[in-house]
Amino acid sequence: MPALILDGTKIAQDIRGEVAAEVKTMAAAGVRPGLAVVLVGHNPASEIYVRGKVKACEEVGLYSEKLTPPETATTAELLALVEDLNRRDNIDGILVQLPLPAQVDAKRVLMAVDPAKDVDGFHPVNVGFLSTQRPGLVPCTPAGVIEILKRSNIPIAGREAVVVGRSDIVGKPAAMLLLNANATVTVCHSKTHDLPGVCRRAEILVAAIGRSGMITHDFVKPGATVIDVGMNTITDPAEFQRFFAGNAKREEAFRKKGSTLIGDVHPEVAAIAGALTPVPGGVGPLTIAMLMFNTVKAAKMRRGSRVPELSRV
Ligand code: GUN
Repeated sequence: MPALILDGTKIAQDIRGEVAAEVKTMAAAGVRPGLAVVLVGHNPASEIYVRGKVKACEEVGLYSEKLTPPETATTAELLALVEDLNRRDNIDGILVQLPLPAQVDAKRVLMAVDPAKDVDGFHPVNVGFLSTQRPGLVPCTPAGVIEILKRSNIPIAGREAVVVGRSDIVGKPAAMLLLNANATVTVCHSKTHDLPGVCRRAEILVAAIGRSGMITHDFVKPGATVIDVGMNTITDPAEFQRFFAGNAKREEAFRKKGSTLIGDVHPEVAAIAGALTPVPGGVGPLTIAMLMFNTVKAAKMRRGSRVPELSRV
């Protein structure tokens, strides 16, 4: 039986609806949460992501502000900008879009963000809160992975979870969230011996590597839930054929656009997995939905009010 396809677009819409309702309640009390997005220079992918974030704010009723320092911005200039945002009362969330230009000390800039406004959950204070199970701001993409599992009624507690990739943005926080939800967690990386064998132990497999279609059928236990966090662009027709030969819909889109999006999971995995997130339309839409949620959460935490729960398990 082919895998159940987990519809991230639908789940993200549900969450955005819940956030919009919360924003409305807050508006009645005279509070409008605000998000500041800092986009340095003109990275085309970052420009698209930031446009999506600002648009989502409008849709759920949040105040948003885009700040666009030039490509030549220095660490000192960005620190001054972040410190100004830290002080402003109408800004509840600050997001510095990555990557930053090479001359900027990115770690220093991210460290300067007030942890109470760190809607990316990247500040070491929030990383510490997550690892010690205290309330804080959780990175958006890993939080989205957990929402997909919970809202699809896929049990986590007591199950074998394998995370491939150990980035600070996805792999490590995803592993921590799964551990906090009582999974038995293994984190794999480029030095892991017998990667397919370790992955085959997984009842929940999270792929966050950044390599097109690397997770093939021999990495997957039949019936496993596979969460594909990869977002890779293919432009080479030969590579396209290797993954999507015979997929008429994809072929037409590829001919028109000259590129297609593929995750870290090979399409053949759909025949063996129990459930699978597609790319596009899986984890991606959750990232923005969780950013909206985090902005409301930050606004509430800063005011000392109760934070709304998303899914409960
Ligand atoms: N660039 C790619 N993904 C992200 C993200 O989740 N947050 C930020 N700030 N930048 C990114």
